[in-house]
Amino acid sequence: MVIFLTKYKIAVIPGDGIGPEVMEATLYVLNNTNLNLEFIKAEAGLSAWKKYGNPLPQETINTIVNTNACLKGPTQTPPGPGTFRSPTVILRQMLELYANVRPFKSRKGVPSIHNNVDMVIIRENTEGLYTGLEYIIGDAAMAIRIISKRASERIARFAFNFARREGRKKVTIVHKANVLKETCGLFRGICLEISKEYPDVLCEEMLVDTAAMKIAMIPQIFDVIVTTNLFGDILSDEAAGITGGLGLAPSANIGDKYALFEAVHGSAPDIAGKGIANPSAMILSATMMLKYLGEVDVGKRIEAAIDSVIAEGKYTTKDLGGSAGTMDFAKAVVEKLNL
Ligand code: NAI
Repeated sequence: MVIFLTKYKIAVIPGDGIGPEVMEATLYVLNNTNLNLEFIKAEAGLSAWKKYGNPLPQETINTIVNTNACLKGPTQTPPGPGTFRSPTVILRQMLELYANVRPFKSRKGVPSIHNNVDMVIIRENTEGLYTGLEYIIGDAAMAIRIISKRASERIARFAFNFARREGRKKVTIVHKANVLKETCGLFRGICLEISKEYPDVLCEEMLVDTAAMKIAMIPQIFDVIVTTNLFGDILSDEAAGITGGLGLAPSANIGDKYALFEAVHGSAPDIAGKGIANPSAMILSATMMLKYLGEVDVGKRIEAAIDSVIAEGKYTTKDLGGSAGTMDFAKAVVEKLNL
């Protein structure tokens, strides 16, 4: 009997710094599954800017919209005025990848500040303070923070649907509506209103500064957090920090038409080119992509293999206290793949 496997076309952006290294490890793992995956390479980031004078060439956008999903390595964006805008932020806005989903959980064998953490931060990904609307007026610099009814409604619904689908119990709305009365006030009001459609999911609200403190001290109380763009960005690095670091934190950027999967971390210039980056975050992002494509089982098996390699401790990377290289880790994961 001949079995025809669904073929998936995946846009692959290696990115900058450690991006190409963790992407090589990720593709190595994916190439050792029984899935029919075609990878189409595309360029973005500082390397693309140096080559083409454009950090996000049109060809890259065309590739993303003509494939089933995109796997993206981190891209480097120079700070300050006079340089290009982050291609990641542009892609999120252009392709309406409105939900940024970032799961954080304790894993056996990972040196971390807390145990028994299992939380997901869902962040509005297209507006807030990341609209790119910044101006100089006289000797002041100002940024425009947009919170719209439409975007707040769709991210709230996404978060509650996510909680329901994943069998999670609670959504915490994180805001600063006591000070940002109009913008956070609108976000809070809409989230609370939408929550009424989900009586089976507990809903609570929390100020962002309190949430930051509680993530540091008692992260176990959180289940799903829904919040605005900048708050979600900052809280998710904090959540990564208390569960073993950025080397382990994956993410998905989901829209109604397209989806892009990337690690939470950046290009890590301090360790780039050394072959020591932890590829777990990027590989786990690929497992989120497999789930999105409907290949849940393979995704789960890859995650189980990662957990097993980390728990064993023989092939862990430097950030987890080991001495294995990026590819050593990926090879150990493939050894454990039970397909
Ligand atoms: P970073 O996330 O690149 O690095 C922060 C720290 O975490 C560094 O000490 C780094 O060595 C460590 N780290 C990160 N990933 C690691 C991994 N996989 N294994 C082991 N250690 C790891 O943040 P940083 O240095 O603030 O930003 C560098 C560049 O990355 C900036 O240009 C920024 O714009 C860009 N960036 C890009 C993102 C994206 O493309 N989605 C996201 C965040 C930052």
